Amino acid sequence: MNELSVTAAAEIDAYLKTQEQKNLLRFITCGSVDDGKSTFIGRLLWDSKLLFEDQLATLTAESKRVGTQNGEIDYALLLDGLQAEREQGITIDVAYRFFATDKRKFIVADTPGHEQYTRNMVTGASTADLAVILIDARKGVLIQTMRHSYLVSLLGIKKVVLAVNKMDLVGYDAAVFERIKADYAKFAAQLGFDDVTSIPVSALKGDNMIGASEAMPWYDGPSVLDYLETVEIGAEDLSRPFRMPVQWVNRPNLDFRGFSGTIASGTLRVGDAIVEPASGRSSRVARIVTFDGDLEVAIAGQAVTLTLEDEIDISRGNILCAANDRPATADQFEAKVVWMSAEPMLPSRTYLLKLGTGTTAARISDLKYKVNVNTMEHMASKTLELNEIGVCNLSLDKAISFDPYTKIPATGAFILIDRFTNATVAAGMIDFALRRAENIHWQSVDIHKEARAEQKGQKASVLWFTGLSGSGKSTIANLVEKKLHALNKHTYLLDGDNVRHGLNKDLGFTDADRVENIRRVGETAKLMVDAGLITLVSFISPFRSERQMARGLLEDGEFLEVFVDTPLEICEARDIKGLYKKARAGEIKNFTGISSDYERPENAEIIIDGGRTSPEDAADQIIAVLEQRGFI
Ligand code: ADX
Repeated sequence: MNELSVTAAAEIDAYLKTQEQKNLLRFITCGSVDDGKSTFIGRLLWDSKLLFEDQLATLTAESKRVGTQNGEIDYALLLDGLQAEREQGITIDVAYRFFATDKRKFIVADTPGHEQYTRNMVTGASTADLAVILIDARKGVLIQTMRHSYLVSLLGIKKVVLAVNKMDLVGYDAAVFERIKADYAKFAAQLGFDDVTSIPVSALKGDNMIGASEAMPWYDGPSVLDYLETVEIGAEDLSRPFRMPVQWVNRPNLDFRGFSGTIASGTLRVGDAIVEPASGRSSRVARIVTFDGDLEVAIAGQAVTLTLEDEIDISRGNILCAANDRPATADQFEAKVVWMSAEPMLPSRTYLLKLGTGTTAARISDLKYKVNVNTMEHMASKTLELNEIGVCNLSLDKAISFDPYTKIPATGAFILIDRFTNATVAAGMIDFALRRAENIHWQSVDIHKEARAEQKGQKASVLWFTGLSGSGKSTIANLVEKKLHALNKHTYLLDGDNVRHGLNKDLGFTDADRVENIRRVGETAKLMVDAGLITLVSFISPFRSERQMARGLLEDGEFLEVFVDTPLEICEARDIKGLYKKARAGEIKNFTGISSDYERPENAEIIIDGGRTSPEDAADQIIAVLEQRGFI
């Protein structure tokens, strides 16, 4: 290597080092268009000289076309956002923007401030180190300021910059600023922030944005950029206990077995004692392997592969933890849930819960109350709609390990996913584990399902009849049961109308009640199968999700879905109970097929063409399948 390239290499090296040292600050800006939020962000980007020539040219042209500043440069237009936002002057989604100064790199999440966009704000704030809350100096602390602050505190953000904007429009009056600062401090006292820094600014004119403002000599605090460049962040993550959700088990050959993932919190050293809390198995860290060689110490945010001193059984979805500070392991907990889907939350429905790298089935077993985000009042409710926040108990299919969100956000936050659409329907923050399951254990019994079924000379199973009201489900199920009985088989028939007279007497026909109806019947059918019976279930069971849930309660092959596919017109023409007539007349609300959905099965084991097949033939068809599959 010649001398020149050695110098160049050293320079590059040094450059890379300084780049590394410039740490990264993530923040969120909260406020509405009226507070001048877009102008505020635009000004930061502009004054930190992050605009390129071609962007400048576009900006000048756009400012003339759709700008709101009489042809002057409109900083709000720097935010590309969506076309609709530009033309209507509103921001409607989360936009992440990246900029850097000599001292630091920044990622700013720009989210809309309207009430209906809680979802976006929660998304934007979930990764932020601090929040900038904008206030229009002419208006002071508004309801929306409280909403933004509450959401920010909910997500565990501890540092807030209160940017009192548009000071130019109140004559740069110190008294106005002081009054707003005091009002906000009073209100924010209940939110648990560590630090609130109030700064009087004019984003439009540039006062106190980058340097000190000449128009406000009475203010001696930092400018916005000064503050953002110097505020300390991240130390917290490192002092928290060690957690690493295992992404995958790395086993390239028999001599190497490593657990790969990104450290979610804390610091880890070679030799540290760690534990997999679900099994309680523990060991010590032998090596911390990375792409750039082994490390002695690794910290939150780093992607590593760990090898351990002992062979312990760990798989994807497990969380490796500091042995001296373990998370909770439970199958029930209380959490704050932010509903993010246009489809309302259905208590009793099974969703997928994803925490760290693990996924498990879960349902909201109890909605204790929802929170009015404007006033923080608690309100009784049965469901959560889009953008609503509730405090709920969740019940999971199996125990998982987690921490309270306030202790370790990375292992205390989860999302709920719809099992069919795969859409994220909610975000949640865990408060604490519920101990009530702790003292209830499985009682082992000596006589098992197989023994009970064998004694009856059959294999226990569920025949799950689904279809519209009047499709013929109950008639066919009744015939099948008669035929089985004649064959000396042991059966039980659970019929919607009948079960709704007793066990499910308290339930009506809203979506939520139907979900609970099917959950209870699914559990009942499971008990009957355990008793060794051939169980016939005849419920409309209109939702795929719950039929899937019922199937999931049983072992593979035990559940046979029988879709009695009778066209609505035929069911309505038959109208055996006269209910369709009433539904058409508006006397019955939420009637399946008319004013409530029926989701057709996609993978039913048996399909009966209920319009053409006689009940007698249908029953024979089903008996034949039972014989074929060895149930009888
Ligand atoms: S489910 O949708 O929750 O599975 P289920 O099978 O228990 O319904 O009950 C359906 C029966 O209740 C129907 O056969 C009908 O006799 C009666 N019923 C009363 N109101 C309704 C309604 N709004 N929608 C459907 N069925 C109704």
